[in-house]
Formats: sequence, structure tokens, C-alpha cells
Amino acid sequence: MSVFNGKKLTIDIYGESHADKVGVSVKGFPHFRFDEKELKAFMARRKASGEVFSTSRIEADEPIFSGVKNGETDGEFTAEILNANRISKDYSALYGKPRPSHADYAWHLKDGALDFSGGGRFSARLTAPLCVVGGILKQYLKTRGIEIESYISSVGKASAASYKDKPLSAEEIRKLRDDGVFPSLDKKERLVEEIKNAKSVGDSVGGTVECVITGVKGVGDNLFSGLEGKIASLIYSVPAVKGVEFGDGFDLAKMRGSAANDPLRIENGQVKIITNRAGGINGGIANGNPITLRVAFRPTPSISLPQLTVDLIKKENTEIIINGRHDACVAVRALPAVESAVAIAIADEIL
Ligand SMILES: Cc1cc2nc3c(=O)[nH]c(=O)nc-3n(C[C@H](O)[C@H](O)[C@H](O)COP(=O)(O)O)c2cc1C
Repeated sequence: MSVFNGKKLTIDIYGESHADKVGVSVKGFPHFRFDEKELKAFMARRKASGEVFSTSRIEADEPIFSGVKNGETDGEFTAEILNANRISKDYSALYGKPRPSHADYAWHLKDGALDFSGGGRFSARLTAPLCVVGGILKQYLKTRGIEIESYISSVGKASAASYKDKPLSAEEIRKLRDDGVFPSLDKKERLVEEIKNAKSVGDSVGGTVECVITGVKGVGDNLFSGLEGKIASLIYSVPAVKGVEFGDGFDLAKMRGSAANDPLRIENGQVKIITNRAGGINGGIANGNPITLRVAFRPTPSISLPQLTVDLIKKENTEIIINGRHDACVAVRALPAVESAVAIAIADEIL
């Protein structure tokens, strides 16, 4: 199990990819009636679909709640999701042979694991319960004027839209998103092409996700209480995340102050910060501009090309070919997981 102990929320996510189920138990939740259809649509964006980017391990991903009556939460609840579609024999040839860059070898170092079936507790199956909590909190935050939306900004070397070129409102992102299943923006064909090309040779490809959060003002504080740190630490709980930047992020390191600073003006009697290179946060506090952030997802570790690894039992070098069902580009199905991580971080601050 993995526990988030927030200021108000306690979220305990448990289960494994090839166990009977994964689940979550939550405490400190607001009293709130959520829209079950909307939650279903949100979960569907994470669900495997068999499309070019996605694993063919398709699961129903329907949460079974306890502590929720007619869509109404009452401070505490649990949600469990069955793992109905497991093929553990896909992993039998990998016994004792860690998949490079998956959690397998680090898991072996920690717990002595040799059976890496499905990636155990390190599997992205555990983002399903994360999305149950995040999906409900996203709805709750919307009632408080806070919107969180994300989109694929690049896949491999192909780039699509970025807030760095043109800021987008949450509403625009939703409109631009094709159908909620393959949620990219413009230049979708180029992105799909990158995934197809990698997949056709048994490979995988990385990608970036951008997230825009509107309606947050004065939340966060200095040093250990900074909002960037809180959001980033929750986003790093999503498997395969290897970088997070806010606003212009690493590009700011190449600029001068005169180009990087966001000027303030009075417009219609209101203070406005007229550019947003800082990504909506200064001094760890939301400055009222949209919070913009970009997340780097590594290419899926499980690829079907031959790879160098070791046999931990025989203590010798070996090669593996991974034959299981895997996502070709994890960034696509990770969008709701990123939104969920952000929703948890912000809800825990404002509750
Ligand atoms: C939505 C999503 C789907 C994923 N699908 C796979 C997959 O099919 N195969 C795989 O090897 N890794 C997959 N991953 C990535 C692994 O879970 C991740 O790389 C692994 O747990 C090691 O963690 P790390 O990359 O954060 O170090 C997925 C990640 C996410 C977010």
C-alpha cells in the first residue's frame, strides 16, 4: 500500500496489477455529491482501449464503492476495481530477469522480489484508484471555481500545442480534445505517427503532458509549504514521470530577467500579471494566473525488442524479449492521472 498523508486528506492506495483488485481508502474527504457519469467519462480516458498507444489489456475499470450513497461522499469511503484481465504466463520467462528501466530490479533490491508479474505494486494499474479520487476531487474543485485540464503536448520528436506558444483556457482544452479517448490537440496525426513508428518495430516512445489549472489564488506558502513542491511531489507519484516544470521552466534558465519577468498592470481597476512565464506561482503561492506545468513521461520500459539484463538466480548476463501487453506511449493514458495528482494537491490545500 502507498499512503498520502495530507493536511486534510489521507489516501491509501493498495493492490497489485496481477492481484484480484486494486483499491483506495480515503479519509478527510469533503461532503459532496458527484456526478457518476462524469466520473465514468473521466475514468474512460485512462482505461486501456487497444488503440495504437494503449495496451490491449482492457479492463472494465468500474469502481465498487463503499461509504458512498447515491453519489454522495461522507468524509470517508473506499473504492475497489477488479483486475479481471490478467495473463501472468506472459511473465513466466521473465522470472528473476528484471526488465530494464521498469521497477523490477529496484524492487528486488528492496524486497528480494524475483516474480515481476505485471509490475506488482509498481504497475500503472494503481493509477485507476488514483483517478477515482482525483476524478471526484476534480468535480468538487470545479464547484469552487477551479478547473484542471491536460493534453498531450508532444510525443517523441513530434510537438503539438504548448502553453508556451499560446495560453489555453480549460474550456479551450476541453473543446480541442478530440473525444476524450485520444486526447491530443492539433497535429494529432504526427503524434499518432510517432507512436505507430515506434510500435511497428517493437519499441515505445515518450511524451510530454501539459496541464493548466485555473481559479487558484493565494494558495501555498514559502519553502516546505510551496505549491509547486506539493503539486510536483504528487505528480511524481504517477509511474514513468521523469520531469516536471512550471511555466517556462528550464527555458527560464536561458533567459535574462528582463525577458523572464512577468509585468504587472492595472486593467479595468484590477491588478493583472500580463505574461505567465512563472506558471502562475511565485514564492510558492498561486498568483492568480493560470498554473501551467509540463510533465515528461519516459518511454514505456516494456518493449518487445531484445534487451540486455541479468539472471538474478543464475547470476549471469542474459537477454530478454518482453511479450506481454503494454502501452506504446504511456503519456496518453496518463492524462487523467496527472489531473488527479493535481486535484489532490490543490484540494488538500484548500479543504
Ligand atoms: C498510464 C500508464 C501506463 C503504463 N503502462 C505501462 C506498460 O504497459 N508497460 C510498462 O512497462 N510500463 C508502463 N508504465 C510505466 C511503468 O509503470 C513505470 O515505468 C514503472 O513503474 C517504473 O517507474 P518509473 O518509470 O517511474 O521509474 C505505465 C505508466 C503509466 C502512467
